[in-house]
Formats: sequence, C-alpha cells, structure tokens
Amino acid sequence: MLRLEGEAFCLSDELRENGHMSTFTIDSATSRATPTPQPGKRLTVPAIRARKIDGTAAEPIVMLTAYTMRMAQLLDPHCDMLLVGDSLGQVIYGLPSTVPVTLEMMCAHGAAVVRGSWQALVAVDMPFGSYEASPAAAFAAAARVMKETGCAAVKLEGGEAMAETIAFLTSRGIPVIGHVGLTPQAVNVLGGYGARGRDTAEAEKILRDARAVADAGAFTIVVEGVVEQIATDVAKAVAPPVIGIGASADCDGQVLVTEDMLGLFERTPRFVKRYDDLATRIGEAAATYAGEVRARTFPTPDQTYRPKGA
Ligand code: KIV
Repeated sequence: MLRLEGEAFCLSDELRENGHMSTFTIDSATSRATPTPQPGKRLTVPAIRARKIDGTAAEPIVMLTAYTMRMAQLLDPHCDMLLVGDSLGQVIYGLPSTVPVTLEMMCAHGAAVVRGSWQALVAVDMPFGSYEASPAAAFAAAARVMKETGCAAVKLEGGEAMAETIAFLTSRGIPVIGHVGLTPQAVNVLGGYGARGRDTAEAEKILRDARAVADAGAFTIVVEGVVEQIATDVAKAVAPPVIGIGASADCDGQVLVTEDMLGLFERTPRFVKRYDDLATRIGEAAATYAGEVRARTFPTPDQTYRPKGA
C-alpha cells in the first residue's frame, strides 16, 4: 500500500514499523523506486557550472551516456553527468543515424535513466526536428522532456543558429547544454561524420558557435569531433565547462558513448578508448550457455526446484 505524503509517496505505516521506511521511498516526480540507500541530493546545474572558475576546471567533469535503468545504476556512482544521448538511435534501435529518433524515445529512455540514478545530473538530448523550427517549439518539446523524465537539463545541437533558442529556454527555466563541432543530426548537410575544423574558416566558425552558445546561457558545451587545437581554443574561449568527445584532453570534462568504451561494438571511432571487450565476453558467455543447453548439462540440480522437504 502506498500513500501520498507531502510531495512524495511513502510506504505504509506497516512497512514503516517493519523498519523498511528509512531506505525506501518513491519519488513522485520521477517514479523512481529502487531500494537503494536514501537518495542524496543530485549534482545540480549550478554545481556543474561552478566546476569551471576563471577558465579552469580544477576537477574534470565525467560524463557517460546511459539509455537504460540498469546501466544508469551501474554508471551513476562514477559520473557527474549521465547523458541520455540520441545516439540511442544507433546503439539501441539499430537506426542508420540519429535523424529518425523521436521525442517519445527520448522521454521513455530519459525516465528510465532518472529512475536508475540518484546522484548524477541527468541530461536528455532533444531529438532532430523537435527544437529547430522556433524557440516556442523548442520550449514545448523541452518542457515535455523535463516533465516526463525528471531530468535536470536538455542538450541540443547547433551554434549561432541556436543561440536565440538557447536564450529562450534558459530564461524560462530550462537548463541547456550546447553541442558544437561535429553535430551528428546534421549528417545530411555535413555529408558524413568526419572531424570538423580542418580548415581555418571552419575552425573560426566552431569558435564563433561556441561563443554564441555560451553567451546565450548554455551551462555546459559539448564539443564533438574537432581538430584538437580547436577544442583547446574553445575551452579557453568560453566561460562554461566544455566537455570533449573526439576533442582534446584540455577540455573541462569528457564524454563517451558507454557501449563504445565498453567494447560492445567491433568498430568504434578513432577517439574511443575501449576500457573492456564486452562483445567478446558476451559472445563467449552465450556460446558456453548454448553448448550446455545442447548437451543437457544446464540446468543442474542447483538451478531447479524441489518439493518442500526433499
Ligand atoms: O548522442 C550522444 O550520445 C551525444 C554524445 C556523443 C555527446 O550527443
């Protein structure tokens, strides 16, 4: 039995008497009901922004992508921010790019990641087509993402062209992470996923984009797939923390797609460091299981039920 207590649902008095109440509450905003230790206060947007003072982030910001409740639970203790990236289009749904990703997908996965985390700041990507048309359209879509997921911020791609929208959102209570350099939602304009900023004009444009996004009020900026020196210049040029991916060690933090860094894919971009080889390990586990099923050596008595007393 659950009942409403103030803003939160709490377990019933019987459970309180049984001693379970201290560690098990359900957050009515997020429906998160994991029996983890009492949730602490999450890292906030001002706390992340304040990591960079006078152009330097003394402690680099750690960000990874997460799309599911269980992965969020595993990553949360190690990360400052969890990003529900629209890269889930390729990673989870096998889509050819992030272009077909919908608001519904982002809301469903965003809510799962909020439910599975308790200390990291969770940010959700705005999918292609949900924010570009106008600041008002962006506000409606971003407000829906925040209401349905319980996330603390949204991320959207684009530089100077998105500055007005970022200012509109931030001045109306929606914290925004900018995303400049290689912007995968623009793959059809860019013609591929190659590194950006290899010529002077493009390098200058990326710097202008980052400045515009920062001036518009983004509290953090992701810089993706750019020539190393450009990322270093961007990190020096703007006040908010700059999180790099395929960028530079001089950035104020780093982000990777979790499945890439765990080695779940055979092919990964050059900038990914594999910290494990889960594809091989999963394949080996599945092969062992398949062999045991075919040999009838699984299940054993350890995995089967017996009548009471037998
Ligand atoms: O969609 C995503 O996962 C991202 C990161 C790669 C930054 O935008």
